[in-house]
Amino acid sequence: MRLGRAFVWHLASRGYHIGIHYNQSDAAARSLKAELERTFHGIQVALLGARFDAAFDAERFVQQAARQLPDLQLLVNSASLYIAGTVADSRLTDFSSQMLVNCFIPIELTRAWSRLSGDLQIINIIDNKIHFNQNTYCAYLLSKKALAEFTRMAALEYAPRLRINAIAPGVSLPAESRSNNYLQWRQAAIPMQRIGGSEPLLHGLDYLLDASFVCGQILTVDGGESLMQIGRNAVSYQDD
Ligand SMILES: NC(=O)c1ccc[n+]([C@@H]2O[C@H](COP(=O)([O-])OP(=O)(O)OC[C@H]3O[C@@H](n4cnc5c(N)ncnc54)[C@H](OP(=O)(O)O)[C@@H]3O)[C@@H](O)[C@H]2O)c1
Repeated sequence: MRLGRAFVWHLASRGYHIGIHYNQSDAAARSLKAELERTFHGIQVALLGARFDAAFDAERFVQQAARQLPDLQLLVNSASLYIAGTVADSRLTDFSSQMLVNCFIPIELTRAWSRLSGDLQIINIIDNKIHFNQNTYCAYLLSKKALAEFTRMAALEYAPRLRINAIAPGVSLPAESRSNNYLQWRQAAIPMQRIGGSEPLLHGLDYLLDASFVCGQILTVDGGESLMQIGRNAVSYQDD
């Protein structure tokens, strides 16, 4: 619950009632609920514990949310599994677990969400790595590329009643284990020369929430990192 916490806090500040999904972070979810209720008067906060596995029942999950919260409008699919592994290193379970959490569960939730009534939106949180072909997190990347394609496909199928878009963050909240040298190295390859933090993603979230004519788009928020795909050409070739 890292970027998820920032999304939840921001949506509460905009007056949304909040359903906090959590799996293992139940203590953090409970304390976030208490903080939200203390800070934002008049909003309702529900705790929605669920493990995303093959037995997950999206219909039941959404109905459980609908019973506890008035007027469901927005689903943010942010939960994710991120496991390193090249094509050669990855096992079938690495593919199935990451495909499930990062893509198939958002698909199931989209179907369940579409059965609600009212003016509905979904924002999928993807990754700017969909613009690259990095084999080092191959199962993760495939799952996010599939979610990007699903975003476009589902946006077409469910418009106009359900508007679906996505945000593709660049390096925003790096794992605490990352060294300063690593972060500087990443920053050096970002045209805006900095790590994003959550704030730029919240601007993206605001934009997609309010832009009622934007449908099926993937908003890349990465300081321009994904522009760095120059490729080789004759001018940059140096003969030894
Ligand atoms: N952080 C970044 O800089 C960055 C960069 C690019 C893209 N993104 C994307 O932005 C989103 C949020 O990133 P983040 O760094 O905040 O993510 P995160 O901390 O790695 O994971 C978010 C949450 O996913 C939940 N989750 C994982 N496996 C689950 C399962 N089997 N069932 C249910 N829940 C599960 C976990 O909930 P519990 O803790 O409750 O178990 C976890 O807190 C992700 O989709 C990520 O791919 C992030």
